Amino acid sequence: MTKYKIAWLPGDGVGNDVMEAAKIVLDELKLDADYIPGDVGWEFWKKEGNPLPDRTIKILKETDCCLFGAITSKPKEESEKELAPELEGKGYVYSSPIVRLRQEFKLHTNLRPCKAYKGNPLNYRDDIDLVVFRENTEDLYSGVEFHPLPKEVMDSLLENHPKMKKFKDTPLEDIALSCRIFTRKACQSIVRQGFEYAKKFKRNSVTVVEKPNVIRETSGLMIREARKIAQEYPGIELWETNVDAMCMWLVKNPQIYSVLVSSNMFGDIISDLCAQLIGGLGFASSANIGDNYAVFEPTHGSAPKYAGQYKVNPMAMFLTVKLMLDYLGEKELAQRLENAIARVIEEGKVRTYDLGGTASTLDMAREVARKLS
Ligand code: IPM
Ligand code: MG
Repeated sequence: MTKYKIAWLPGDGVGNDVMEAAKIVLDELKLDADYIPGDVGWEFWKKEGNPLPDRTIKILKETDCCLFGAITSKPKEESEKELAPELEGKGYVYSSPIVRLRQEFKLHTNLRPCKAYKGNPLNYRDDIDLVVFRENTEDLYSGVEFHPLPKEVMDSLLENHPKMKKFKDTPLEDIALSCRIFTRKACQSIVRQGFEYAKKFKRNSVTVVEKPNVIRETSGLMIREARKIAQEYPGIELWETNVDAMCMWLVKNPQIYSVLVSSNMFGDIISDLCAQLIGGLGFASSANIGDNYAVFEPTHGSAPKYAGQYKVNPMAMFLTVKLMLDYLGEKELAQRLENAIARVIEEGKVRTYDLGGTASTLDMAREVARKLS
C-alpha cells in the first residue's frame, strides 16, 4: 500500500499541461502516492449539466488531499448556451467547481504565498515575501443571493433595517441582493492562522485587510476579533488597513508587509495583486485547507487559448505541489522542491514565454527534476 492517496483533477484548458509537469516533478521526488484521476470542468458541464460530478466528490472523500489544475468559469447566460441540447431548459445552473469544493469540504482557509524568487525577471521588487490568508467559505461567496428579491425578504428587511426604505419603491425584479455573511468563528480562525504562521516563521506583523470604516458589521467583526487575538501574540504587531488603500500601499511598498489576512472577496482581489508583484499568475500557488481535507491549485485560470500547447509556466503548479507536500508533513521533500524551483529561476536558463524564453511547460518540469536529483 502506498502512503498517500491523492485525487488528481486536471480540469480545463492548461490544467492538464501543468498537471503533467507536476507528475514529472513528483516522480522525481519519489513521493509514495497513488494518484487517482477525477472528472471536473467545462466538458462535464456541457455533457452532464454538472462540472463536478458526484463520482468525483466520492474520489475526493476517499483520498488524503487533491491536486487541482485549472477551471473555466463563465457567467450564467453564457454557460447555459453551451449546455448539450438535450439538457437545455432543464434547470441546470452552472456553479464553479472550486467554489463548490471549498464549500462541500469546508476548506475554510486559502493560503497564498507570494514570494519574489531571486532572478525572476518579472519581479516587481526582489524583496517581497507576502503570505495571504484568505477566508475561503463565507462572505459574498456564501452563495446567498436573490434576483428578483422575494417579497418576504423585502418585507423583512423593511421591518428590520431603516436604510432599506430607500429601496421600497423599486420593483422587486429590479433588485439583486448578494449577502456578505461573516461568522465570528471564521473570522477568529483566519486571523488566528495568520498569527500562528507569523509566530512560527518569525514574522513581525499581521495586516488585516478589510473596510470597517464603511462595512461596519462584517469587516468590523473581523477587526474586532483580530484586536482580541492579537493580544495573545506579543511581539507581533497587528496592522489594520482598508482594502482600497492597501492596493496602493502594496504597489508603493510591498516589501514592508508580511502576513496578510482578509475575507473571501477582498482576499481574492488582493491575492491577485500580490501575485502580480512576484511575476504574475505563473508563480501564484494556493492551498484550500480545511480540518480534514485540502485542495491544492495554482491560482491561474485555464487559459483555453494555450490548452495542450505546453506553453504556460508551471512554476505556480510546482509551488502548489510544495504546499501539498508541506500539508502532508513531507517537509524535507517540500524544502528540496522549493530549493530546486529557486535554483531554476535564479539560473534563468530554462524559461517559458512569460519569462521571455522559449522553453515548454515540460522543459521547465524536467529542469526542476534535474535539480532535484
Ligand atoms: C481564485 C479564483 C476563484 C475565486 C474563481 C475561479 C471562482 O479567482 O481562486 O482566486 O473567485 O475564488
Ligand atoms: Mg481569484
